[in-house]
Amino acid sequence: MWRYPHHILAHRGGGTLAPENTLAGLKAGMAAGFCAVEFDVMLARDGVPVVMHDPWLGRTVPGSGNVYDYDAHELAQMDAGSWFSRTHHGEPVPLFVEFAQYCKAQGIWMNIEIKPAAGFEEETGALVARLAQAMFADELASGQWDRVPLLSSFSAVSLDAARDAAPMLPRAALMERLAPEWRERAQTHGVVALHVNHKQLTQEQVIQVKTAGYGLFCYTVNTPARARELLGWGVDAFCTDRIDLFTPDFA
Ligand code: G3P
Ligand code: MG
Repeated sequence: MWRYPHHILAHRGGGTLAPENTLAGLKAGMAAGFCAVEFDVMLARDGVPVVMHDPWLGRTVPGSGNVYDYDAHELAQMDAGSWFSRTHHGEPVPLFVEFAQYCKAQGIWMNIEIKPAAGFEEETGALVARLAQAMFADELASGQWDRVPLLSSFSAVSLDAARDAAPMLPRAALMERLAPEWRERAQTHGVVALHVNHKQLTQEQVIQVKTAGYGLFCYTVNTPARARELLGWGVDAFCTDRIDLFTPDFA
């Protein structure tokens, strides 16, 4: 079941209107009326989680090597904005805790994608879940489920580690396409929703997932026509790169 009032999320912070996974992205999303966001989290060398999509440097931050070759304070001094535009020069790689606290303070609902580097699946899932649980302890205790973040991951190991570390935090299983054994996987990992690429999704699959009682979220939907079709099929929510094409009341 999808128990959130949010149906459109800005993908990687602010879609393609700002450098992905940065505070500037969040602000672009807020300026466009968005109050829900998806972003990616992985561990730096010192085990501190940072907001990044790629497990290596070179695309969104200059440099080379892996994210886990650098401590978080080193990453936080890197320029995650210049690849996008000169006006975003010096935009830092956010620390997860600061980024999430900013979202919470601004009332932005979070879908936190646990994006572990290979070999770090367990510790990434456990730590991100523990930190998110601590940050939303009051909301969890008082049953304000609509404010509590939704964790998601492609990694089965990360999902299970998150469940073990913070059983109360809801989780979603990310899949490139709905796997034939999705029911078993959903049950095994104890997830509340399935997050799938909309390109492979069929109306029949939507009916099956919804009939089974799970929430269904699609990535990454960049045209209003396709979004309307998916919502019409019964999809609960989606993230988009094109936040400029969607008004807050679209869904
Ligand atoms: O969480 C949905 C989507 O973000 C998954 O793909 O590569 O953009 O993280 P990616
Ligand atoms: Mg993502």
